[in-house]
Amino acid sequence: MITRRSVLAGAVAAGCAGAARSAAPAPSLADAAAAAGLLYGASIGREALDDPAYADLYRREARIVTTDVALKFDWLRPTPDRYEFGPADAILRAAEANGKLVRGHTLIWNDNAPAWLKRLSGREVERVFDEHIDTVAERYAGRLHSWDVVNEPFWPMDHIAGGWRNGPWFAAMGPAYVERAFRRVAAIDRTAKLTLNEAQCDNDSDWGRAIRPLLRGLVDRLLDAGVPLDAIGLQSHLQPQWPANYGEFAAYAAAFGARGLEVYLTEFDVNDDGFLDDVRARDAAVAATCQSFLTAALSTSAVKMVVNWQLSDRYSWLRDVWRRERPASRRMPRPLPFDAEFSAKPMRDAMLAAFAARKAAGPAPQRKPE
Ligand code: G3I
Repeated sequence: MITRRSVLAGAVAAGCAGAARSAAPAPSLADAAAAAGLLYGASIGREALDDPAYADLYRREARIVTTDVALKFDWLRPTPDRYEFGPADAILRAAEANGKLVRGHTLIWNDNAPAWLKRLSGREVERVFDEHIDTVAERYAGRLHSWDVVNEPFWPMDHIAGGWRNGPWFAAMGPAYVERAFRRVAAIDRTAKLTLNEAQCDNDSDWGRAIRPLLRGLVDRLLDAGVPLDAIGLQSHLQPQWPANYGEFAAYAAAFGARGLEVYLTEFDVNDDGFLDDVRARDAAVAATCQSFLTAALSTSAVKMVVNWQLSDRYSWLRDVWRRERPASRRMPRPLPFDAEFSAKPMRDAMLAAFAARKAAGPAPQRKPE
């Protein structure tokens, strides 16, 4: 359980640990990103508040943090009559105390809905939808850099016309839930950059190729309808086991920029399932994939942010997936810039190189939005 005492103790201990720790490898990822006109950070959970050494890594390397589960519906609303704001409040307090920006992830997602929500009628779901957005957006108004207002609207594998992701919000309101969410948040908090966040757009798997045009079409309809939308989040959970064309991804991102939107790489990590067991070879392959992708993506001036999905392999979601799928395996995924002992890996150098390439390319010509 996160308590104010544990957060403060963690921050104090981290400060001491940080002071005692050898000098950080300069520059930090955040500083190198800032020199290239980018915001850099990582998703954050309670482990970064409970573990002073991990808190120190965020303090040193990140400029912005994204709440991993603390602001998700199922975590905020364990029961119909209760909001559990403790974890999110602790993350915001710690971030603000350390001068970090915060991304709120995510107000509306058709996945991971609690059982009580799924039992409600369509009318009741609509009431909960509006009340949830009003309550949460009001509580954090003015404190967030950006909101993932809607996460992952599409999932063709749900076999719904239009490729929509199924779930309680879609079942109750159809595709209109997306516009309704953005308009409702904007009426409460217009300081946060309102972001539509989607997965899979970085690869040419069947679903990657299906989702890209669906997302582009939705964004065009929202903008043409005057819906308040500021940014597109492209999650960038790279899966090198699938075909991909990172130059085409950069062009895809640039098309959102041409409509006046910012583009955020919101959940960046590199799945290493398809690489060799040998750790040195695997880390090198992850770094090469990272540099190839980031160098291409950052050639698009609309891309303004890179956020890893956690900082250390120790807390990657891919470890949970791996353990579930291969319970007997002794190998562990290594998808992030820091290993399980918080030591820098070749991927961190690859990120620094991609940030430097963006900086060397200089400020992009400002394109007038369409
Ligand atoms: O912390 C509890 C632990 O106390 C409990 O014993 C355990 C029992 O299962 O659950 C733990 O909570 C887990 C939580 O992550 C914190 O680690 C939840 O079960 C688990 O469902 C939750 O998974 C998260 C998942 O989204 C669903 O919210 C992952 O951490 C998180 O990385 C993942 O992130 C998603 C993005 O939101 C959207 N894009 C894809 C990305 C990866 O799936």
